[in-house]
Amino acid sequence: MSRIVYVDGAYVPEEDARVSVFDRGFLFADGVYEVTSVLGGKLIDFGGHAARLERSLGELDMACPVTMDELLGIHRELVRVNEIDEGLVYLQVTRGSAGDREFEFPDPADVPSTLVLFTQSKPGLADSPKAKKGIKVISIPDIRWGRRDIKTVQLLYPSVGKMMAKKEGCDDAWMIEDGHVTEGTSNNAYIVKGRKIITRHLSNDILHGITRAAVLHLAREAQMEIEERAFTIDEAMAADEAFVTSASTFVMPVVEIDGETLGDGTPGPVASRLREIYLEESRKSAI
Ligand code: PDD
Repeated sequence: MSRIVYVDGAYVPEEDARVSVFDRGFLFADGVYEVTSVLGGKLIDFGGHAARLERSLGELDMACPVTMDELLGIHRELVRVNEIDEGLVYLQVTRGSAGDREFEFPDPADVPSTLVLFTQSKPGLADSPKAKKGIKVISIPDIRWGRRDIKTVQLLYPSVGKMMAKKEGCDDAWMIEDGHVTEGTSNNAYIVKGRKIITRHLSNDILHGITRAAVLHLAREAQMEIEERAFTIDEAMAADEAFVTSASTFVMPVVEIDGETLGDGTPGPVASRLREIYLEESRKSAI
């Protein structure tokens, strides 16, 4: 069955979907995106993703062609027609096509934004074998732009980072700026020392993860101690545990950093417990 995708008001088979070659998302990476996970055919944390999308759009003076309620309807319709049980919904808004290549933003009254959504079916996403084994990460310099709090589609460096990790036989990379870990290429980074969870504080230096917010809330409810501050890679290599969070991996244990094995090299109790709680609570509040 061909996947049905959404492009500017229409639900079409993926092979019929069209966006202009002049689209600013294509020419300038002038666009923002969201990834929302689906468990049991329902959306996880849709409200958080919608709120962050509005913020990203606002920071870039970009308009969204539909309301957040309409966006929810589109997500649900795509999940339904594509029969997604476990997987992801990808959403992208770009500043559209002014019919040529000019650096200046076009007037939004003349040029509507482009809205594209598609689903990715990922059976077994929650019961991932990787989560049972844990992942290995390397560290790389963070050379991205200074507004990482805006979820833009400028993902070349994160892709390069993942390839650097792959070349080293690892799964992902943590980025380092001024000696401290900012975040993973597509996730937020955490270490555990004793019973304390340490993760970088929110600022323009990192994406304000929706999974991060939910996991920290649940950790606090479970009386876990949290410290929101920057940490060094040396501190991480000497930690008892580490993990990452994102909509596509939930809570994913990290068992090796730059070749240094953490603990006994298997997922630690804090990360494993947080993954369990997060999945349980997310299923309950899914819409
Ligand atoms: N990435 N940091 C970065 C740089 C990210 O790209 C992401 C998400 C996160 C975690 O955010 P959230 O918990 O809201 O998913 C942190 C998505 C999943 C992606 O690019 O596929």
